[in-house]
Amino acid sequence: DPSAYLVEYKNSLTAFNAAKKDTIEGKGRLNNLISSALFEFLGGKGIPTHFIRRIDDTHQLVRSVKIVPIEVVVRNITTGTLCRRLGVKEGIRLPRPLIELCLKDDALGDPLITEDHALLFGWTTTEQLQKIKEIALKVNSLLSEYFLPLGIVLVDFKLEFGTDGEGNLLLADEISPDTCRFWDRDTNDRLDKDRFRKDLGNVLGAYEEIWRRISGKR
Ligand code: TMP
Repeated sequence: DPSAYLVEYKNSLTAFNAAKKDTIEGKGRLNNLISSALFEFLGGKGIPTHFIRRIDDTHQLVRSVKIVPIEVVVRNITTGTLCRRLGVKEGIRLPRPLIELCLKDDALGDPLITEDHALLFGWTTTEQLQKIKEIALKVNSLLSEYFLPLGIVLVDFKLEFGTDGEGNLLLADEISPDTCRFWDRDTNDRLDKDRFRKDLGNVLGAYEEIWRRISGKR
């Protein structure tokens, strides 16, 4: 079926543009469960997504899309490359969500770009970019509200978008502890891939904890 793709969630992890690599048994399954639950939640709230259904522990069926070559990062609290790049303090809650665009190009290390770069080099259009930003902000408020009662603060995350055969813009890729930063509301414990990036230990335990809280809600 050319209108659908089978997505496999793998146990491999990379950081710093794949300079650091590892494999963690069970990670793919947890990300698949978490990502499926979040796509279902967002779809139910009217966000157009590529998700069709979860097939088994490590696979999802999704609508095939042509990916827009831009990674869309939304930040609520300062951390990560934002702090490294601009020298701002970590842990500051921003007065409103910050949207950053990065070019999806591993060879270049996914560089930060401006909206003008994205438009002038044809990576998106004015109309599509407007929609992307609207959906990204809506996803941010929906997910922030979803996670707060679970004792989880949505610090930041990365989204990818694509267009299907009919030209519809769909939220694509995955939404998981690999692509979001989750901090425990009470302890500030890192419950995401930063445990791997920063060698904090117990990576799988953090992903299990996110799934435990999501599945409890469901
Ligand atoms: P950053 O602070 O490292 O730029 O990350 C911002 C957010 O984007 C964070 O939630 C992790 C996510 N992210 C990805 O999903 N893929 C990536 O390649 C990078 C660099 C970040």
